[in-house]
Amino acid sequence: MINSEKIREYFPSLNRTDKNNNQIIYLDGPGGTQVPIQVIEGVSQYYIRSNANTHGEFVTSKETDFMMEGLRERASDMLGAEGLKTISIGQNMTTLNYSLARALSRRFKKGDEVVITELDHEANRGPWRVLEAAGIKLVEVNLMDTGTLDYTDFKNKINDKTVMVCMGMSSNALGTLNDFVEIGRYLKGKGCLFLLDAVHYAPHFSINVQELGCDFMLCSAYKFYGPHVSFLYSKPGLLDSMNPDRLVVQDQEAPYIIETGTLNHAACSGASSAIDFISSIGEGASLRERLESAYELISSHEFELAKHLYNSLNKHDKTTVIGPDFSSTKRTPTVSFTHIHFSPQEVCKKLASENICAWDGHFYALKAIQKLGLESSGGVTRLGVSLYNTKQEIDRVIEVITKI
Ligand SMILES: Cc1ncc(COP(=O)(O)O)c(C=O)c1O
Repeated sequence: MINSEKIREYFPSLNRTDKNNNQIIYLDGPGGTQVPIQVIEGVSQYYIRSNANTHGEFVTSKETDFMMEGLRERASDMLGAEGLKTISIGQNMTTLNYSLARALSRRFKKGDEVVITELDHEANRGPWRVLEAAGIKLVEVNLMDTGTLDYTDFKNKINDKTVMVCMGMSSNALGTLNDFVEIGRYLKGKGCLFLLDAVHYAPHFSINVQELGCDFMLCSAYKFYGPHVSFLYSKPGLLDSMNPDRLVVQDQEAPYIIETGTLNHAACSGASSAIDFISSIGEGASLRERLESAYELISSHEFELAKHLYNSLNKHDKTTVIGPDFSSTKRTPTVSFTHIHFSPQEVCKKLASENICAWDGHFYALKAIQKLGLESSGGVTRLGVSLYNTKQEIDRVIEVITKI
């Protein structure tokens, strides 16, 4: 079991109080989590000791090179990848995905088809629009009223012309866990590329890209207790065969070929610490084993709290929970709802007045919110449970919402 008290001590921001001395309750995790002291130290120690650009002959530059390769190694372990050469680093997932889409627009040809989904965040939809200028057709998988993808439609949309399938592992708006395992199996031997957006999944569950058989995966450290920096996993050999936008003077090999300009080294140092921090919650001989064991603990802690939140909101006659229920574990701990009398923005204002951080709107999963007919009423209120949340906090949030 997670030792909440001990975990919370690592997060300085959890001690922040309002004028009435009430602690802030952070349920805004799907938009970015709080960071533990280990990560803050990772960032500050980089500036204190090793601040330099890469590939120099002097000590701070060598330390920066070492730290950057260390981050790639850790991210590779975290994603179950084939080593540091499979991990490219970028400013955020959206920017990396745009770079990838532009590179692939030079590889695909007119008439090819790329499958995207209606449930995905715009960061895994918008970049693929780049392909349309090259005559490549985008095909969208339907979202059903239940907040889950229509898998019959999904399979029907994959055909001989399909060159790529891009899907999220879970929905940042509704908490839906997508059946990426089944889609991965279905795509086996079909010769098309398979990309997974792990941004909303990576904070909650362990990942194994090799088992999933995906060609690309993206995730962002600021969603899993780290700074604003993101990773692109590419299957060995893939990036080397592509033509991303890049300078002639930069490294022309994977994983660097798609990285333009100087990266945010301090954030990278913090991201390394974030992976170490998560692993410190688990047990095992290797980093990978510790991460897997940590994720077991994290997901069961979060799931129980989110289930409690879901059940209470579901029982309340003034709120409607949007998205899959908690009858199986096919869920992230993200609970979205609407209120019979108040808009999501009004609900969030009321929560904010009680020192509770929650998001309202579509969270860039615009198509899904439109499809569910919720755009004109302001989307949903989203409560995202993270590692550091407690039962008392969830009870307090339920009390505030039922009082509204
Ligand atoms: C599921 C999902 N995909 C992609 C993104 C975009 O990530 P980034 O902010 O790193 O560009 C987000 C951000 O909220 C997200 O939740």
